[in-house]
Amino acid sequence: MYKICMTEDVPEREARSFELPDGDIIFITQRDGSFYAYQNLCPHLQVELEFLENQFLDRDQEMIECSTHGALFLVETGECVSGPCQGQALEKVDITVHSDGGIYLIEE
Ligand code: FES
Repeated sequence: MYKICMTEDVPEREARSFELPDGDIIFITQRDGSFYAYQNLCPHLQVELEFLENQFLDRDQEMIECSTHGALFLVETGECVSGPCQGQALEKVDITVHSDGGIYLIEE
């Protein structure tokens, strides 16, 4: 399995982007001790979500926000609950946290 980063690299209610070996750009965020990963691609126009580096969350750090038109996505599911792509969802990336503190990509 490919190790993406360590858990301490992604603080609670923050997000970090990473490039996978296949060139995909993803981001990981932590909420209440759980980690969630998504492709960095807005379902509205297929553009990257952030304008400033690692700024994937809204001002209250409650939801994931697309910087282009302000679509809001639930951290836990990636579902868009507000904005032009409401009802669509971010593409989830399967990850797992191991006892060594690493966050690993689950490859099929
Ligand atoms: S490109 Fe993300 S909301 Fe329009």
